[in-house]
Amino acid sequence: MSFTIVEQCTPRLNRSELAVPGSNTKFLEKATESKADVIFLDLEDAVAPDDKEQARKNIIEALNDLDWSGKTLSVRINGLDTHYMCRDVIDILEQAPGKLDLIMIPKAGTAADIYAVDMLVTQIEDATKVEKRIGFELIIETALGMMNVDELAASSPRLESLHFGVADYAASTKARTTVIGGPNKDYHVLTDPDGDGNRDVHWGDMWHYPVARMVVAARAHGLRPIDGPFGDFSDPDGFTAQGNRSATLGCEGKWAIHPSQVELANDLFSPSEEDVTKAKRIIEAMEQAQKEGKGAVALDGRLIDIASIKQAEVMVRKAEQIKAAG
Ligand code: GLV
Ligand code: MG
Repeated sequence: MSFTIVEQCTPRLNRSELAVPGSNTKFLEKATESKADVIFLDLEDAVAPDDKEQARKNIIEALNDLDWSGKTLSVRINGLDTHYMCRDVIDILEQAPGKLDLIMIPKAGTAADIYAVDMLVTQIEDATKVEKRIGFELIIETALGMMNVDELAASSPRLESLHFGVADYAASTKARTTVIGGPNKDYHVLTDPDGDGNRDVHWGDMWHYPVARMVVAARAHGLRPIDGPFGDFSDPDGFTAQGNRSATLGCEGKWAIHPSQVELANDLFSPSEEDVTKAKRIIEAMEQAQKEGKGAVALDGRLIDIASIKQAEVMVRKAEQIKAAG
């Protein structure tokens, strides 16, 4: 282990994160019944410029008047390049004090962006004397943000999670796609021709690099990496395939841009019974090995060692967290 200890952020379940546009009061009410681990009330891209002020009022009303008990609540504020952002933070924190858990900062570009929001939030919290300190979620969704992902991940003690915003990232990098998330048939390799000249097409995952890059930055700073939206809500299989890829790389959850995606995300980011049972067996086998003075043993014909205990413990802890949340 390095002499540098990575401090872990506030632990929360974040398997699903439901996006709810602040301009739609019906959706806000409905969201109180959602099974999503985190709910973010949106003031940014799901809200048209003419509706921004009303959406902000709706969110303040919803935070104060609806029953959100048991929910982790976030608000996605507008970007720092807009004149809405400042009022988003001030009005919401002053008029609904203590109601939010998190603020989601879109299009995070440099550590200075986060410093500016932190300063504003800190002043309001001090002035309103609220106990609860707001955490930050950053969306990494521009070329600048991805280039600076390491400094962003270290930019504030309020940080809890980094999110991959695939739609804006595609726009920012001028990637050749117009859909939100998922593969592109042009991103493929061809096998060499067989004896008859036939070649197979293997689709690749054009999002592999940015997701993997973000996961490393997040984990190196004790933050949760979260995969962003999958736009085609009529394609649960496509959603699950994309979510499984990001889970495999280390993401802890995925956005739901439609209520039907919440359960899919909760399922796919929960370890299976089989995985948890196997993890417990690994821990038991390694405890026995250590009693016998061994650093590595075989279990079911495969080598396990001290690193296996850590992998297994991550899984068992996640299962316990899910059980505790009911
Ligand atoms: C999310 O904000 C995205 O741009 O994908
Ligand atoms: Mg975006």
